[in-house]
Amino acid sequence: MSSTSLGPRRKPSRKGSMADVPKDLLQEIKRLEDLFTVDTAKLKAISDHFVDELAKGLTKEGGSIPMNPTWCMGFPTGNETGTFLALDMGGTNLRVCEINLPEEKGEFDIIQSKYRMPEELKTGNADELWAYIADCLQQFIEYHHEGERLDKLPLGFTFSYPATQDYIDHGVLQRWTKGFDIDGVEGKDVVPPFEAALTERGVPIKLTALINDTTGTLIASSYTDQEMKIGCIFGTGCNAAYMETCGNIPKLADMKIDPEQEIAINCEWGAFDNEHKILPRTQYDVIIDKDSPRPGQQAFEKMIAGLYLGELFRLVLLDLHEQPHIKIFEGQDVASLKKPYSLDASFLSDIENDPYENLLETGDMFHTKLGIKCLKPELELIRRLAELIGTRSARLSACGVAAICKKKSYKTCHVGADGSVFNKYPHFKARGAQALKEILDWEKGRDGKALGRGNDPVEILPAEDGSGVGAALIAALTLKRVQEGRTMGIRDPEGMLAGTAAAKPSSKQVAPEAKK
Ligand code: GLC
Repeated sequence: MSSTSLGPRRKPSRKGSMADVPKDLLQEIKRLEDLFTVDTAKLKAISDHFVDELAKGLTKEGGSIPMNPTWCMGFPTGNETGTFLALDMGGTNLRVCEINLPEEKGEFDIIQSKYRMPEELKTGNADELWAYIADCLQQFIEYHHEGERLDKLPLGFTFSYPATQDYIDHGVLQRWTKGFDIDGVEGKDVVPPFEAALTERGVPIKLTALINDTTGTLIASSYTDQEMKIGCIFGTGCNAAYMETCGNIPKLADMKIDPEQEIAINCEWGAFDNEHKILPRTQYDVIIDKDSPRPGQQAFEKMIAGLYLGELFRLVLLDLHEQPHIKIFEGQDVASLKKPYSLDASFLSDIENDPYENLLETGDMFHTKLGIKCLKPELELIRRLAELIGTRSARLSACGVAAICKKKSYKTCHVGADGSVFNKYPHFKARGAQALKEILDWEKGRDGKALGRGNDPVEILPAEDGSGVGAALIAALTLKRVQEGRTMGIRDPEGMLAGTAAAKPSSKQVAPEAKK
């Protein structure tokens, strides 16, 4: 796999000049720098505390970080085969894929359709949610398999919220995250109402595995790169999964599982430091939490994830404007800046990507999007603020990655990452790599080579499609376990095979004779 982690060497795209910035704004910039900068010592302290909290989440008593066992037991070999459906209930879209894993090791074919998640659904009720999802799946099957007699297709459902799983085909939603607030789902198993909606419509699908996007990312990435040990999402939300041995999971001790048996843990690390012991929260972080649908939850996520970056930026600018002694946006109508969540992380990305010394593009954006005409010193402050918020996000994110590496004593490994912030936010990768270097005290890269350019001991790399390929692979691994009689963590092994091609002697899930 080629390395796209650029290391810390990339030059800043513009130098920036604070020469013409008036004293009051300079002072404010300095104050913001102090507020949002996380230095090496703090990064280390956060990572150390993080290690303790990961371990605590695995105990019977538990801690803030849920550390949910997922019943995905072990990595793929690359020899998995079959046809699977994957459903991803992401924040903005609903994606349905059909994935074929052929005989060739590590290969896959994928077809997919996207459906927009209506905004109202996110705060609507449970019945509407399941009905909408089942309708999309039905449409997908009708479109791609018109007129075919189908065996039931095994489905991996990527449900990227914290869920307690007694089995892989089960999941009790602990609480909504990422701004979702759908009534009647929290505290309940999401599988039965989902399956009921499918049955009602006669859709030939069998839910095989309910997975988290991070677990999907871990498994999909390890399918093509055996060095992959951690799967991360840096997107609307932020979270990670890794493989733990059952002997290290006291909360599973009663189940008497072989202590060497591996099981993927969905950390749900967004909840790190919900008790506010270590993270350097600002007054703006406090407001974000207070005004969110679930105050007190997801303390870490609210400081770093894509959903909140634009909002943090907006809150800071509004606060500066409202302070009489700071002259910013004087005499301008800031009504549009007063609307919560009106700026998303891409707004910050665009500011950080502005290549011009005079910040021409940033000025244009403020004018067209917010109706605010900025003076040059204001633009300098805006740019610095975007950098500070983006840098804090990358550096704090690295604390989580470093903590898992420390916990597992991984001196070297690859981390598969996905999500809009990782893929699109400028310098996120380089800033994360720099923070890892500081936390883990690297002086040299692998084999004594210079750091960067693919030599960093721990590298965060773009992942394979976790909610598509990952979901399919986990479904395949689960069916294989059932076929081999290794049914731990599977609610209804017989029911899982019934009506699917896996129940037949051939291992293909769509029987060839059923095709047109
Ligand atoms: C939130 C969810 C978590 C998910 C992450 C990334 O933190 O709680 O399940 O993995 O967002 O999508």
